Amino acid sequence: MSSAPALQAREVSMVFGGLRALNNVSLELAKGQIVGLIGPNGAGKTTFFNCLTGLYTPTSGQVLLGGTQLPGDPAEVTTAGLARTFQNIRLFPSMTVLENVLIGRHVRMKQGPLSSLLHGPAFQRGERAARERARELLDFVGLSRVEDELSRNLPYGDQRRLEIARALATDPSVLLLDEPTAGMNPQETEAARQLIFRIRDTGISVVVIEHDTKFIFTLCDRVTVLVQGELLVEGTPEEVRGDPRVVEAYLGKPPEEVQAVVEEITHGSAEGASGE
Ligand SMILES: Nc1ncnc2c1ncn2[C@@H]1O[C@H](COP(=O)(O)OP(=O)(O)OP(=O)(O)O)[C@@H](O)[C@H]1O
Ligand SMILES: [Mg+2]
Repeated sequence: MSSAPALQAREVSMVFGGLRALNNVSLELAKGQIVGLIGPNGAGKTTFFNCLTGLYTPTSGQVLLGGTQLPGDPAEVTTAGLARTFQNIRLFPSMTVLENVLIGRHVRMKQGPLSSLLHGPAFQRGERAARERARELLDFVGLSRVEDELSRNLPYGDQRRLEIARALATDPSVLLLDEPTAGMNPQETEAARQLIFRIRDTGISVVVIEHDTKFIFTLCDRVTVLVQGELLVEGTPEEVRGDPRVVEAYLGKPPEEVQAVVEEITHGSAEGASGE
């Protein structure tokens, strides 16, 4: 059990009508690793996360967390220890920062929402512990000072960090981050990089989707490249960066040429080559 990879996706395929969004994509994440997932717009990166987390039921393939096959239901997947953030931020805008983290924490509490009606001592203790943990996590991501703000009032970069705190509140063994630095300035991006290292240092394994390849190559232990639903290359940042297929398909060309390749690959559906 202890030697099992933190996360293992085996030949995952996802077909939408006539579109094969993923074709036999496999990925292995060792414990304590940070793995990057890159590829042009429409390559299937978010779809892959949706298949891992039970939001989509893959057409075929298997997903194992710590050697155990994951259930197909998103809530059960979270309880099993796989947490994620979303490319399009999904917070509760009219709740405070602290409340948003508590939502994640409730996944780990024995009392269901109904027990709050009873307000017994066990409930009170549970709530206190949950608040304490939520505050620790806000401190960890650097948002303590705004715990009582409504989340909709936070700047974009802070909302992304709040999503990470909420995901961490579920006590995951593996964290999936879908474009965590989209919309961030260079300072925020660097802070996000350091935050992901610190998350890894707590023992959580991480998969990161990003368009910013410099960010990925300086953050990740291994990188997987998806193009049109196919796994193009997998390897260390050095191997991937130097692979002629990646250079050809994705990197190392002038911006206009990269854009042209991206548009060709995504059948003209690209909205832009980068995630901001
Ligand atoms: N629910 C769905 N129904 C039909 N097609 C879908 C669905 N979800 C994704 N797709 C299609 O699957 C393909 C992959 O999309 P996906 O969002 O996974 O790409 P991506 O690599 O995350 O792109 P981006 O970098 O732009 O976020 C696209 O062609 C997309 O239109
Ligand atoms: Mg995406």
